[in-house]
Amino acid sequence: MRLVRPSLEWKEEHKQYVEEWGPSRMIPSSFNLTGHATYEEYLQALHDRESGQGKWVPSSNYFLVNAGGRILAMVDIRHELTEHLLHVGGHIGYSVRPSERRKGYATRILAEALEKCKKLHIPRVLVTCDDGNVGSAKTILNNDGIEDESYTDIDGTVIRRFWIVNE
Ligand SMILES: CC(C)(COP(=O)(O)OP(=O)(O)OC[C@H]1O[C@@H](n2cnc3c(N)ncnc32)[C@H](O)[C@@H]1OP(=O)(O)O)[C@@H](O)C(=O)NCCC(=O)NCCS
Repeated sequence: MRLVRPSLEWKEEHKQYVEEWGPSRMIPSSFNLTGHATYEEYLQALHDRESGQGKWVPSSNYFLVNAGGRILAMVDIRHELTEHLLHVGGHIGYSVRPSERRKGYATRILAEALEKCKKLHIPRVLVTCDDGNVGSAKTILNNDGIEDESYTDIDGTVIRRFWIVNE
């Protein structure tokens, strides 16, 4: 298994992941293909987003891919926190392909993302999840998350917030 950057090579696999995901809101949103006429356009928009243009902070996105070239999971690493990320989104967002869940891949991609955070000199990494997302909370605890105060979003959603010391 390895982390790879989104590129033309992953176009078909990425599309299949999105198909399997179905109509619900894509997590992380940086992998949403809706609204882009071509994959090339999507890659350009991702590049702009990663370089911190517009409302975005600089970020890095990766697929977790197995030896057979199948995308198992996706991760978005935000290099800085805004007020919103401090309360809701955190530094790292991830998802696992629906057919590949409960096999340890979320725990693995978060661990790999933490290694990337070390290289980015982010010593304390914030990872959040909705209250009730037991799988994500366990994933964070598996990576030594220390729970901080929860935050209640404007729509009433309670967000659990965890710090991972990553030095
Ligand atoms: C949450 C999610 C990332 C978990 O991925 P996963 O690959 O199944 O997680 P893992 O296999 O690494 O499991 C981690 C732990 O959570 C447990 N777990 C996973 N899904 C669970 C569920 N639905 N209910 C209860 N426990 C769950 C696993 O048993 C494991 O427990 P253990 O460490 O005690 O053995 C995945 O369900 C997903 O992509 N959900 C939609 C997107 C999302 O919620 N992303 C996180 C945003 S904060």
